[in-house]
Amino acid sequence: MIKILVTGAGGQLGLEFAALVKDYPQFEFHFYTRHDLDILDEKALGIIADEINPDYVVNCAAYTAVDKAEVEKSLCYNINTHACRSLCNVFGDRNTKIVHYSTDYVYHTCLGRPLDEDCPTEPKSEYAKSKLEGEYILRNSQIPALIIRTSWVFSSFGSNFVKTMLRLSESKDQISVVYDQIGTPTFTYDLAIATLSIIEKTHAAEGGLKLFNDVYNYSNEGVTSWYDFATFIMKMNDKKTKVLPITSDQYPTLAKRPVWSLLSKEKIKNNFAIDIPHWHDALDRCFKQMNTSGSN
Ligand SMILES: NC(=O)c1ccc[n+]([C@@H]2O[C@H](COP(=O)([O-])OP(=O)(O)OC[C@H]3O[C@@H](n4cnc5c(N)ncnc54)[C@H](OP(=O)(O)O)[C@@H]3O)[C@@H](O)[C@H]2O)c1
Repeated sequence: MIKILVTGAGGQLGLEFAALVKDYPQFEFHFYTRHDLDILDEKALGIIADEINPDYVVNCAAYTAVDKAEVEKSLCYNINTHACRSLCNVFGDRNTKIVHYSTDYVYHTCLGRPLDEDCPTEPKSEYAKSKLEGEYILRNSQIPALIIRTSWVFSSFGSNFVKTMLRLSESKDQISVVYDQIGTPTFTYDLAIATLSIIEKTHAAEGGLKLFNDVYNYSNEGVTSWYDFATFIMKMNDKKTKVLPITSDQYPTLAKRPVWSLLSKEKIKNNFAIDIPHWHDALDRCFKQMNTSGSN
């Protein structure tokens, strides 16, 4: 059995992995929330590493409060950057591989075409810079690391844009949402499934390690703006709340957001033979999951 240690197991993505356990008997999962394992604590990481000796660490732990990161800079860098070094220190000589998630924010460039993994990175916020530096640490280490840059993550677990829109629809007649930031939402279920599929396909395969040890983009298929995303969420749930389009200038935030987050997924699709669902389909499945679990 392939042993997988999941850090940050109490977040959107971590909880999604936990919900998938029953579908993946070929994996032995070990889940650690921040409460159970603080990835800033290298000693605690070492104890868990000795106990479990995982084949893979799937690092779902992250500092994701993008605006707060502009003021809580050191905490953000500790979690998103320095903890990557701790993971390498602890797991580097154990034959463990790391799966790590990064963000579309590292590109922050508008080329007028889908951004591929070789596009220049120009992170503009502290969050984005901390994530890119975390990537560098993993890529410059000896430990094999699959780095997945993802965007606009939504889930039936945790908090996210979809849930915020549904919550606002309970009290607001109208809301304003930016229409000049373009990208693609990512359903945690599809991202988790893709991750497990990659691990399974590359684990014992000839040349698998070379494919694994690289940077990949992943989001659902399709393209939208936050305004269109919000409009679609309301429509799918028969909500009466009117969504008004505004520009980013009309909605200033502490951290700068990229206007262009359209990710090319050619590399991940070609290297691992992955089918990526459209975000409409993903959102539909997310709502079904919410209704089943009562989290809506
Ligand atoms: N959400 C997005 O839209 C988005 C977009 C692009 C990329 N990503 C990336 O995708 C990955 C997964 O994101 P997500 O949406 O699942 O994030 P999330 O819901 O914020 O989950 C992150 C988890 O990490 C935990 N954590 C924070 N500091 C920790 C520490 N020192 N030790 C252990 N755990 C710690 C958090 O615990 P607390 O809640 O207790 O702090 C939380 O449970 C992240 O790498 C993120 O940067 C996310």
